[in-house]
Amino acid sequence: MSCVHIPQKSLVLIGLMGVGKTTVGRRLAHALKLDFRDADEEVEKAAGRSVSEIFEDFGEAAFRDGERKVIARLLEEPPLVLALGGGAFVDPETRERVKARATSIWLQADVETLVKRVSRRDTRPLLREDDPETVLRALLDKRQAAYAEADIHVDASGGSHNLTLDSILRALDARETSA
Ligand code: S3P
Repeated sequence: MSCVHIPQKSLVLIGLMGVGKTTVGRRLAHALKLDFRDADEEVEKAAGRSVSEIFEDFGEAAFRDGERKVIARLLEEPPLVLALGGGAFVDPETRERVKARATSIWLQADVETLVKRVSRRDTRPLLREDDPETVLRALLDKRQAAYAEADIHVDASGGSHNLTLDSILRALDARETSA
């Protein structure tokens, strides 16, 4: 691996549920000696409730408001690695803020891979609305145009999270070298 530059801006991981934003984000932060934050966890801390409870008690719109505010606050901090919930970058305000203040990285994977990965946890309210494959295909359809606005696109299908991490580090290095 060629030399890894310490980023001047936060690195924001986006993509669908199950793609590995949190796991890869932690490893990326470790590799770059930056702090890591997970937007869902920060929303949960601020609300004193789990994401599922927020959806149940207040509805998705309230979750999205909280998510937008929490991400705005995190992007005011010195550079860090931030994993966003799958719907956050679709919000136009959040997308603009991320573009202005951070480097965004879209982790892409095929729906079959995502279905396998999301089956490991039952903490995602949107996946209870129908079978996970149907939900994820519909969300990908709706969201991919927004995701495609990310600065860096990385294939996170199939391979291990460490391969995804290597791809991100290479992409960051290439950007830095060509800047
Ligand atoms: C959501 C993704 C979840 C969480 C919430 C809604 C979405 O985060 O924010 O359940 O709309 O795709 P992960 O992508 O980290 O699972």
